[in-house]
Amino acid sequence: MRPLKLEDLHPGYVAGLNDPEVNRYLDGVKRVAQTEQSVSEFVKQNQQSENAVLFGVWLNGAQHHCGTVRLHGIESHHKTAHIGICLFDKSVWGKKLGSKVIEAVTRWALDKLKLRWIEAGAYSENIASQKTFLAAGYEWIYDIPDKYIFEGKPSTVKVYAAKSLAV
Ligand SMILES: CC(C)(COP(=O)(O)OP(=O)(O)OC[C@H]1O[C@@H](n2cnc3c(N)ncnc32)[C@H](O)[C@@H]1OP(=O)(O)O)[C@@H](O)C(=O)NCCC(=O)NCCS
Repeated sequence: MRPLKLEDLHPGYVAGLNDPEVNRYLDGVKRVAQTEQSVSEFVKQNQQSENAVLFGVWLNGAQHHCGTVRLHGIESHHKTAHIGICLFDKSVWGKKLGSKVIEAVTRWALDKLKLRWIEAGAYSENIASQKTFLAAGYEWIYDIPDKYIFEGKPSTVKVYAAKSLAV
């Protein structure tokens, strides 16, 4: 894993983000068709942001990245951040790669950035995501019932966090 650069973009990244099976639970991604331009903008915005880091994930020896993990909303007073993951290349699903990369980015954020609280939200229907965050050491904090609409119906978002409560 390393921060993603514009040179890392490849057609599989854009195509993966537009795959309904991949973006099913990704509100922002599926709202508009992703293009080379929209994905480049996203990468640039994250590169320039002071409160976000977008990591690319590569399998050993692979030419192209297969996913991303993003820390965002990094807040320096409370020392908190949000985390999101997208393994857009479905050929890597089912290998527990998600929990490994979340664990690594979370450890870096807690140890090196000295953050205290890394938070993730997942639709209750997204079982793979919830299992992934739990396996990466996150704990369930609370549920937000009915606030967000998933596939046309009010749904529950489950909030998980990894903490290091030293101040
Ligand atoms: C969610 C995601 C990160 C999971 O990554 P992964 O490494 O492929 O996860 P795995 O397939 O190894 O699955 C983890 C667990 O979920 C289970 N699982 C996977 N798909 C499932 C499904 N559709 N229904 C129920 N359980 C499922 C696996 O059996 C495994 O369970 P176990 O730990 O008890 O063995 C990946 O699928 C992804 O990026 N999806 C698209 C984007 C997304 O939804 N991101 C999260 C938004 S909150």
